[in-house]
Amino acid sequence: MSRVTVRRSASGSRRRGAARALLLGALLALVVVAAGCGADSPDIFRPGGSAGEEIKTLSFQIFAILAVVLVTVWGLLTFVIIKYRRRPESEVSKTRGNLKIEIVWTLIPAIIVTVLFVLTVQATRQIDLPDRGAQFTAVGHRWWWEFDFSEQGFKTANEVYVAAARITSIDVESVDVIHSFWVPQMGGKVDMIPGRVNHIRFVPLKEGEYLGECSEFCGEQHGKMRFLFVVVSAEEYSAWVHDQAEPAEQPTGAEAVAGGKLIQTIACGSCHTIRGTPSKGTFGPDLTHFGSRRGIAAYTLPNTPENLLAWLQDPQAIKPACTMPTVPLPLREQQQLVAYLEELK
Ligand code: CUA
Repeated sequence: MSRVTVRRSASGSRRRGAARALLLGALLALVVVAAGCGADSPDIFRPGGSAGEEIKTLSFQIFAILAVVLVTVWGLLTFVIIKYRRRPESEVSKTRGNLKIEIVWTLIPAIIVTVLFVLTVQATRQIDLPDRGAQFTAVGHRWWWEFDFSEQGFKTANEVYVAAARITSIDVESVDVIHSFWVPQMGGKVDMIPGRVNHIRFVPLKEGEYLGECSEFCGEQHGKMRFLFVVVSAEEYSAWVHDQAEPAEQPTGAEAVAGGKLIQTIACGSCHTIRGTPSKGTFGPDLTHFGSRRGIAAYTLPNTPENLLAWLQDPQAIKPACTMPTVPLPLREQQQLVAYLEELK
């Protein structure tokens, strides 16, 4: 009697276990689907670059092979569990060892692993593009990005343009700790290491705006170290480079003019450069064309006058531990600074 009870409760808990596994599977599937929805989501299954395409193709190939393995193993397992389950009349099998079967089940995994290896090597070779010299250097800072176009004589921050359909070649380095350059939809990432220059190359295939992020934990604001990576036509790219290389345009609005005068009397210029003015600091982001950028605080907030004002009033509230100090000014003057900066197109 007691044995029957034990068996019944064991099968009950097995059923509950299976239900739990099913629920978990459904939840996981939901998370995967939801993750692919956001417009701003750096979805690696919607690649916009050559390396991203290669990685996606390889992922699906590996997924397909492993799915076949999974279904085969589960199928055989289910078949054997049902067909050879214990029956009152069953006897213990006396079969021992079978050379043929052992050779087969050693060979099949070996072949599968070899196929996976060859596919991976092929994809890696496709991703590796010839070196024709970098267009710019991406420099990691805690916690923002500098894009140095030394040939054209300008630097920008947290927003960079590249031309579609030709090799984009980027040198990457860091001024403080190890960061990692990653535009998920372009594919591939590379560590940015102080004192060392690394490289990354890919061909952006689709025009559009992509999210870039830091992929190596680098301190408190690692999660708020983002940038906007914009892929445009060759003509638009040339126009962007031309505009960026120009010095800052002089503002015309009364508020902005006042802000422009004010900024030269306070400490902003010791950390920030505004080309065409006496501000020549290099510690913080170059602000020459600040007004043209889509985001602030390393592309974590939209570049609006309200957000910029909040940032100037208390950067530590938005990004604790960042090196930007509070600007201790009356509201009126903070607003003039905002007007000036937003006019730096
Ligand atoms: Cu920089 Cu994480």
